[in-house]
Amino acid sequence: MSQDQWSAVDRYITDRVVPGDPALDAALADSAAAGLPAIAVAPNQGKFLQLLARAIGARSILEIGTLGGYSTIWLARALPEGGRLITLESEPRHADVARANIARAGLADRVEVRLGKALETLPRLRSEGLGPFDFVFIDADKVSTPEYFVRSLDLTRPGGLIVVDNVVRKGAVADSGSEDPSVLGVRRFYEMLAAEPRVSATAIQTVGSKGYDGFAIALVLRSEAG
Ligand code: SAH
Ligand code: DHB
Ligand code: MG
Repeated sequence: MSQDQWSAVDRYITDRVVPGDPALDAALADSAAAGLPAIAVAPNQGKFLQLLARAIGARSILEIGTLGGYSTIWLARALPEGGRLITLESEPRHADVARANIARAGLADRVEVRLGKALETLPRLRSEGLGPFDFVFIDADKVSTPEYFVRSLDLTRPGGLIVVDNVVRKGAVADSGSEDPSVLGVRRFYEMLAAEPRVSATAIQTVGSKGYDGFAIALVLRSEAG
């Protein structure tokens, strides 16, 4: 089994059930043209996130890690009339590209891109009385994934979902000797999940055009929010 095969199967799936879309395609093209790294979720993953958000009827969504706004557009399109999405991004250039992509997708009225390090902007959401959120997507630096998770938990209503990207890292997550800071961050996140009575969680390994990685999903049973 090879990357070529994973990519071919992703193409096969995407060609059938993930129709091409001008705003999403343009978001990727402009992100690449601006020199942003090609690490957005794959199209079939973006739709997966969108379906999860729709399935729970999410009206308020929080995203941590915007990049060029590709996953943001997928998620914002899950929102009903009057729904809101806030996305947190620390790189001004990424935030600028994302705002343009989101505006072109016709979503500027319901999406807010907040510039700043998420560890600083997350507490502010609370003090501004924003939230509780129905759905959170954590996809920023992996070192801080555990901190993003605890903070998200306090911002998510019971019955809400927290989805975390990149929790397998080519399998490195199971290597107890890893010294990679991202792997250590993700491993600390699993320890936190294991000890957290306020969620029921699992994780799924994925292969595809983005290689070998995975998503974790946590259903919030009770929280400080909501
Ligand atoms: N969710 C996007 C991909 C995000 S890539 C998509 O699928 O389309 C990760 C993003 O997190 C990058 O843009 C990076 O600049 C941002 N990031 C890294 N550290 C951060 C931090 N401390 N706070 C907020 N954003 C951060
Ligand atoms: C990286 C980050 C991501 O969010 C991702 O989905 C894939 C790769 C990275 O930093 O390499
Ligand atoms: Mg990711």
